[in-house]
Parts: sequence; C-alpha cells; structure tokens
Amino acid sequence: MNPPFCRFQSLILTTYLVAVVFLVVVVLTALPAAAQYPNPKSHDYDPDNGEEINELCAGCHGEFGQGGGDGEYPRLAGLPAKYLAKQLHQFKIQERNSVAMSMYATDREISATDLLDISIYLSELELLTIMPDFAADTSSLEKLQIARRVFNVARHDGDVERGRDIYATQCAKCHGKDGLGKGSMPQLVGQYTDYLRIQIEDFQTGKRINEPMKKYIQPLTAADIEALLAFLSVADD
Ligand code: HEC
Ligand code: HEC
Repeated sequence: MNPPFCRFQSLILTTYLVAVVFLVVVVLTALPAAAQYPNPKSHDYDPDNGEEINELCAGCHGEFGQGGGDGEYPRLAGLPAKYLAKQLHQFKIQERNSVAMSMYATDREISATDLLDISIYLSELELLTIMPDFAADTSSLEKLQIARRVFNVARHDGDVERGRDIYATQCAKCHGKDGLGKGSMPQLVGQYTDYLRIQIEDFQTGKRINEPMKKYIQPLTAADIEALLAFLSVADD
C-alpha cells in the first residue's frame, strides 16, 4: 500500500475520532441540567425531619409556608416538591441568586436528604383561601390557628380582562388553565403579587434563567405584566 496515502487515511481517522469525542463531550455537558436536580419521587421521606427543618425557614416563609413581608418572602406551601427541590438546589449552586436564601441553602444547613425532606414537607402544607364556618364549640385557640392558615392574595388593580387573555394564550399551557400549576410547574395564582413581579423581571433581565419560558416572558411590556398580576390576584376569588 502507498505509505503517504496510509498516513493520510490515519490522519482522517484521527480527525474523525477527535471530532466524535468532542461531540460526545459537548452533548454530555449540554444535556438538560434537569437530570442533575434532586428528585423527590423515590425519596424515603421523613416528615419529622421536614417539620424540624421548617423551623429554620419559618422565620421568613412562615410556619405554614404562607410567606410574608408582603411577598418579600414567597409562599412555599403547596408548591410542587420537585419544583421546590430544584429551586433549593439552584440556590445552593448559585444558579439562582438571593442574598437571603444563600445563607440557608448551603450544604452545612441543608444536606441532600434535608433538601428532599423539606421540599416534600412544604409541598404537602395546605393553605385555606377563605375562613371556614366554625362549629359552635370551636375554641378561640383553634380559630386563631386556622385563621393563620387563611391566605388570600390582595387584589391588584389593573386590567383583569387583558391579563386573562395574555395568561390564557401565553402562560396557561404550562402553569395550568386556572394558574394553580401543573405537574412540577409552580402555581402563580395564590402567590404574592410583588414576588411574582420581581421574578418576571428577573426572567426578563436574565438574572433568573428558564429557557423554555424565555420566549413567553421576554415580550411582556410593563403594562402586560401589571394586567397579568391583576388577573392572577383575583383568579381564585
Ligand atoms: C432570611 C429569610 C429567609 C429564610 C430564613 C429562608 N428563606 Fe427562602 N426565600 C427568601 C427570599 C427573600 C426568597 C425570594 C428570593 C428571590 O426573590 O428569588 C426566598 C425564596 C425561596 C424559594 C423559592 C420559591 C419559589 O417560588 O420559587 C424557596 C423554595 C425557598 N425560599 C425555600 C426556603 C427553605 C426551604 C428555607 C429553610 C431551609 C428558607 N427558604 C429559608 C428568604 C428566606
Ligand atoms: C413552556 C412552559 C412555560 C410557559 C409557557 C410559561 N412558563 Fe412560567 N415557568 C415555567 C417553568 C418550568 C418554571 C419554573 C422555573 C424554574 O424551575 O426555575 C416557571 C416559573 C415561573 C415563575 C416563577 C414562579 C415562582 O414561584 O418563583 C413565574 C412568575 C412565571 N413562570 C410566570 C410566567 C408567565 C407570566 C407566563 C406567561 C407569560 C409563563 N410563566 C409562561 C414554564 C413556563
């Protein structure tokens, strides 16, 4: 066989192999980061541990995960466990940034097991949107305890009908027809208005990143956002 041709062939082969290895590396590193997020599904849940960790979170997010500070601290109760676990993990690795959360979402404060326990615990907390009718013999202590779990977002002034239209065409397919979330998608109804506004703006500026949602959030004008918030604030009334 002609030696120069042989060298030429092996050069092609080497180039080909290098290209294949390179592609494999690129594909592997670009694979959805989701694969690395903790998944509560097969976790051996310890409710007592969840309750104990919640004492740490309650200072800001409330004993029942109802949030506070007019939305400075978001509601966590009832959000999907998978969503909560992803957010906590993102705070830990600083893929999502928050000065307040970065103090708590550390390996020292929340181990991998704690992270799943607290996510499931919070996802199972239920809040009421209206005060129930009390039986005549309900003690005032019981009434007080129930009242603390009643949470309804204050009405936000704005063009509700315009918000309803934008929501139905741009947001409903992922966040659910009624805004109460879908699968691991977070609910938007029942979340504080000011918190939602900050998140939408953070998604627009790229401070918070979610690729699938980008094209829906990016074109929203300030007026669109106010209309959406007005709609979301009354959608469960
Ligand atoms: C010092 C106050 C503080 C404490 C304590 C705290 N958080 Fe937070 N948390 C915040 C703030 C502020 C935000 C909003 C961050 C932002 O704007 O992105 C937040 C956001 C979150 C979110 C994102 C919610 C969403 O809808 O995406 C999760 C999940 C969360 N916290 C879980 C926890 C857990 C679990 C604990 C306890 C281990 C905890 N936090 C303790 C202040 C706190
Ligand atoms: C293609 C699916 C998709 C569409 C459409 C979509 N979202 Fe989302 N949205 C998501 C996902 C997924 C998340 C969770 C992001 C994460 O894991 O950090 C999210 C999160 C959010 C959050 C943060 C909630 C929280 O608790 O912090 C807000 C606010 C939000 N979306 C608003 C909207 C609005 C408003 C629209 C319509 C204009 C919209 N989304 C359309 C998929 C979508």
